[in-house]
Amino acid sequence: MFKREPQLVSGIPEGFISAVNMDAYCCDSGKAMSSSSEDLEHYHETVLLEEAVHFMAPATGKVLVDGTLGGGGHTEKMLEAGAIVYGIDRDPEALAYAGRRLQRFGDRFIPVKGNFTDTQALLEQIGVFKVDGVLVDLGVSSRQFDEADRGFSFSKEGPLDMRMSDEGETAADIVNHWDEADLARIFWQYGEERSSRKIAKMICEERVSRPFTATTQLAERIEICSPRYGKKIHPATKVFQALRIEVNDELGSLRGLLDTAESFLAPGGRLCVISFHSLEDRMVKRFIKQTSAEEIDKKEWPAPRPNPEYFFKNISRKPIKAAEQEIKRNTRSRSAIMRVAERV
Ligand SMILES: C[S@@+](CC[C@H](N)C(=O)[O-])C[C@H]1O[C@@H](n2cnc3c(N)ncnc32)[C@H](O)[C@@H]1O
Repeated sequence: MFKREPQLVSGIPEGFISAVNMDAYCCDSGKAMSSSSEDLEHYHETVLLEEAVHFMAPATGKVLVDGTLGGGGHTEKMLEAGAIVYGIDRDPEALAYAGRRLQRFGDRFIPVKGNFTDTQALLEQIGVFKVDGVLVDLGVSSRQFDEADRGFSFSKEGPLDMRMSDEGETAADIVNHWDEADLARIFWQYGEERSSRKIAKMICEERVSRPFTATTQLAERIEICSPRYGKKIHPATKVFQALRIEVNDELGSLRGLLDTAESFLAPGGRLCVISFHSLEDRMVKRFIKQTSAEEIDKKEWPAPRPNPEYFFKNISRKPIKAAEQEIKRNTRSRSAIMRVAERV
């Protein structure tokens, strides 16, 4: 009942979709795509738009990467300023949608299917070795979250899927097959869920007689196991966050991007990361600290030594957050934190 429509047209090479074949891609995507203004507004409201574009400094002739294309909000602004933009997304539906929205920019917009963790390899496949900036706006888009059949929301009945892409293990695979200890570990590590062990135990007991297949089924069982007792958020919120992070290897993807960014960014090229929870932001903050120190020192050394990982300059000394006005308009922007580093 919850099976997702196949999204990919056979014959399109994995990893790269040229602007030329984008139309065919859209038409066969299984969804009727329209670029009406109504559609554009509802796909996703871009966060920190002005701020991110300011730091990416788009201009004619600059080559930029949007690692999380989504609805194309950030990319559109960068294209309007004259840049060439490679828009990466792992979700074929996002690529199809943004492809339609950005069609007017012709071959200055190049959609790429893949994981931004592989940015370097994806670019090299198409003969690009250095770029002037990379932006990632992490997490899921409003469209992905709001579509019941993607399985991200515990308040909408849908399959327990949660994949941003059309491949890999689903949340149902994890919930129905993982060990109790591993479930408890991800609920704690990725969701900071205080009842992690109790919920993992409940899941392992219940799934014997009735495997978990639907979002609401899991949310209801969690609510019974770990009742609200005045909690501000739904008792399933943290478990759903943890499952989403695991299903999509969100932290691993970010790690991969950070570890390779120095090799594909040209000197002066910017790395902009917008994160939405402390696990991601902590990783970015530590990375910038580590790679922006010219020297490192240890107690046992007679003098400081040059840092072999000195690749970046910290551009955003303080984390950049949404202004009050934006938060009023778009509550999702409340938890957005942007950090920026520049390749030296
Ligand atoms: C928050 S939305 C981006 C919205 C976009 N900035 C805009 O203004 O419309 C995140 C998008 O990034 C994609 N995404 C998330 N993680 C990804 C990854 N590791 N690799 C490629 N795409 C990813 C999701 O599929 C989603 O479409």
